[in-house]
Amino acid sequence: MKNLICNNLSVNHSDHLCIDGVDTVELAQKHGTPLYVMDENRIRERCRTYRDAMANAFGEGSYPLYASKAASFRQMYRIIMEEGLGTDLVSSGELYTAASVGFPLWKAYFHSNNKTDFDISYAISEGVGYFVVDNVEELDAIDRIAKEKNTRQKILLRLTPGIDPHTYEAVATGKVDSKFGSAIETGQAEQIAKYAMGLDNIELMGFHCHVGSQVFDSDVFLRASEIMLEFIALMQSRYGFVTRELDLGGGYGVRYLESDPEIDISSNIFEVAAHVKAVCARHGIDVPSIRMEPGRSIVADAGLTVYTVGTVKRIPGYKNYVSIDGGMADNPRYALYKSSYTVCLANRMTSDAPTFKCTLAGRCCESGDLIQEDVILPADIKRGDIIAVLTTGAYNYSMSSNYNRLPKPPVVMLKDGSDYVAVRRESLEDVCKNDI
Ligand code: LLP
Repeated sequence: MKNLICNNLSVNHSDHLCIDGVDTVELAQKHGTPLYVMDENRIRERCRTYRDAMANAFGEGSYPLYASKAASFRQMYRIIMEEGLGTDLVSSGELYTAASVGFPLWKAYFHSNNKTDFDISYAISEGVGYFVVDNVEELDAIDRIAKEKNTRQKILLRLTPGIDPHTYEAVATGKVDSKFGSAIETGQAEQIAKYAMGLDNIELMGFHCHVGSQVFDSDVFLRASEIMLEFIALMQSRYGFVTRELDLGGGYGVRYLESDPEIDISSNIFEVAAHVKAVCARHGIDVPSIRMEPGRSIVADAGLTVYTVGTVKRIPGYKNYVSIDGGMADNPRYALYKSSYTVCLANRMTSDAPTFKCTLAGRCCESGDLIQEDVILPADIKRGDIIAVLTTGAYNYSMSSNYNRLPKPPVVMLKDGSDYVAVRRESLEDVCKNDI
């Protein structure tokens, strides 16, 4: 039997995979497949870990912002709102979703490297707390639109501390050569900070950095905070500018495979806090309020995806393919990043049949539509069997598409042993609802 990676997973007397004690095969029968399943208790537990650790380590004014790009739908905003987190948003669509459930938008931080005038105007009208400003064009646009709306808008400036977090290229964002932010190393960070300090309708509250995603090395956060605080001390000594907030971004890694380490979030946060306090003392500056922006580590292992096997193809001398009823439309991460996943035969978890190595393929009409290669499954796998792909709670639903006009699967949430639909399955009618 496969290692279950996360302690919310188990196997029941029917030899079926369970999450939060709920049988995934029964969920498949009840809701159909493909099916995203998310464990609400697990999400809440992660929220509390971040919230309590940040308040205890940095002080009451410091709190986490859930990076909602990881999984953005109404019920997620309700959960994080109830748990007292703020949120990181990157589009008017995410802001609209949060606003529609009454999310306290003063705790919302609007990111993105290219906010349109519409985004800015809409977000200010809705009362967004902060923009995390990426560049000068945006700064001018926010200043102009805030003036038109007779308001002074709080912002953080996004800086790149020049750190390579040794994660995969597409998600490494803290390096100097990045589409995001202003580099400290080139002097552009100082220029934009000085400029922002002089704008009438902008209230510069502090600075932001995000070095990358799926990061396991805690040293990355220590180095990033050190560079940011050095910059903050420089702003104070050169311009008398006192930084009130420092946002260290997201990025803690999660376990996709048994071989991935498990990060102790709480002790990592205490380690970062001790370092931040020591560096501030060294520079003789006050410790700013801290924000962190976890996305993946809040939702990833709360989720799994359930599929039904359609075809099993053996090509003698070549590979074996197991095709399922989903694929890159509901999980594009292998096609995009070659992401690793643990795959289980959910309806026969302890099969004694001989195993075979196969490629788990999707149903989209292109060869790159794979979920995972070199998967070991029982060789007697057949049409109708149920496959579970673990740790899909982050960046699966939120990155899903209607490629090949596949309707998006529903998100079923589990709470204390019962299930409810948080996002309905799309119908065939939904797929063409905007067509004329
Ligand atoms: N803050 C900022 C500014 C970010 O850009 C991100 C992620 C986060 C926070 C949250 O990072 P996390 O805690 O989730 O690592 N689609 C990719 C991940 C892209 C991450 C983009 N930014 C994937 O599927 O792996």
